[in-house]
Amino acid sequence: MEKIIIDCDPGIDDSLAIMLALNSPEVEVVGITIVAGNSPCELGFKNAKRVLKFLGRLDVPVYVGADRPRVREYVNALDTHGSDGLGESFLPEVPDQMIPDLSAAEFMSQTLKGGDVSVIALGPLTNLADIIDRDREVFLSIKRLVSMGGNFRSHGNCSPVAEYNYWEDPDSAKVVFNAMYEAGREIEMVGLDVTRKIVLTYDILDEMKRKNPVVGDFVEKITNFYFKFHWEWEHIRGCVINDPLAVAQFIDQSILSGFSAFTDVETLGISIGQTVVDSMGFYRKESNALIYTKVNEKAFWDLFLPRILGIKGESNE
Ligand code: BDR
Ligand code: CA
Repeated sequence: MEKIIIDCDPGIDDSLAIMLALNSPEVEVVGITIVAGNSPCELGFKNAKRVLKFLGRLDVPVYVGADRPRVREYVNALDTHGSDGLGESFLPEVPDQMIPDLSAAEFMSQTLKGGDVSVIALGPLTNLADIIDRDREVFLSIKRLVSMGGNFRSHGNCSPVAEYNYWEDPDSAKVVFNAMYEAGREIEMVGLDVTRKIVLTYDILDEMKRKNPVVGDFVEKITNFYFKFHWEWEHIRGCVINDPLAVAQFIDQSILSGFSAFTDVETLGISIGQTVVDSMGFYRKESNALIYTKVNEKAFWDLFLPRILGIKGESNE
């Protein structure tokens, strides 16, 4: 069983990713760390607890990290995820949940030291850049680093060229990509090129409701708003669920494929947050990123659906 930390900003699709990870026997979620992204940190913490409560897994520790990006002003994505960060499902808050004194970076630093823990990052990379500031060696002991973020040929989702997680904190993303370069390692980039293919449709949601009404209702509650947002902005009848794809690829490496390339992140100007992927080797630099470009959609759904539908689900009331 592979040990993982999920660094996230829940967030609708983050929640689906947590559900997938906690119902996957291949991984042990040793902790969830929160970063300011879709939701401000405190809300992200509460939402992680709401999901854990539904899963009956409040034993999984949740730590809170950076409450703002490294340099830029913080801009939340509650326009996409709803005012409560969970699609305006307004699930009741889980009582008696205190934010631990240990910060996300402190928890990660302690936990990563052994070299047997991987990180799946589903939000801006601020917490990871913080670890690099604290202790680069500890950062480099991450076993596998899978990040949902960036884009290669696909257009952006919050500017013409930038994906949200890296646009939110491009400076941290740059620090992380550069640290991987200096160490001769690769970050696995699960970007919009592949996540855009993972569309939860009304048909799939209906099937989920039919097969497991408890889980189906929960998913419907948190995605309803997301469906409407996608119709308005992307003109699709369904919603792109980015984050679970990163978890799925961590578990089954045959779901995505791509190529290795030196990659940097723009931190200024109109292309701020854009991943600059040197697919042609102009810079003559060793690769620091595995850029996923192809996705076996069927393999994703075959992994995702039975696992999500296997969840018993506890009342959040
Ligand atoms: C990413 O940004 C957020 O809206 C999602 O949770 C995902 O991590 C997609 O650009
Ligand atoms: Ca996210």
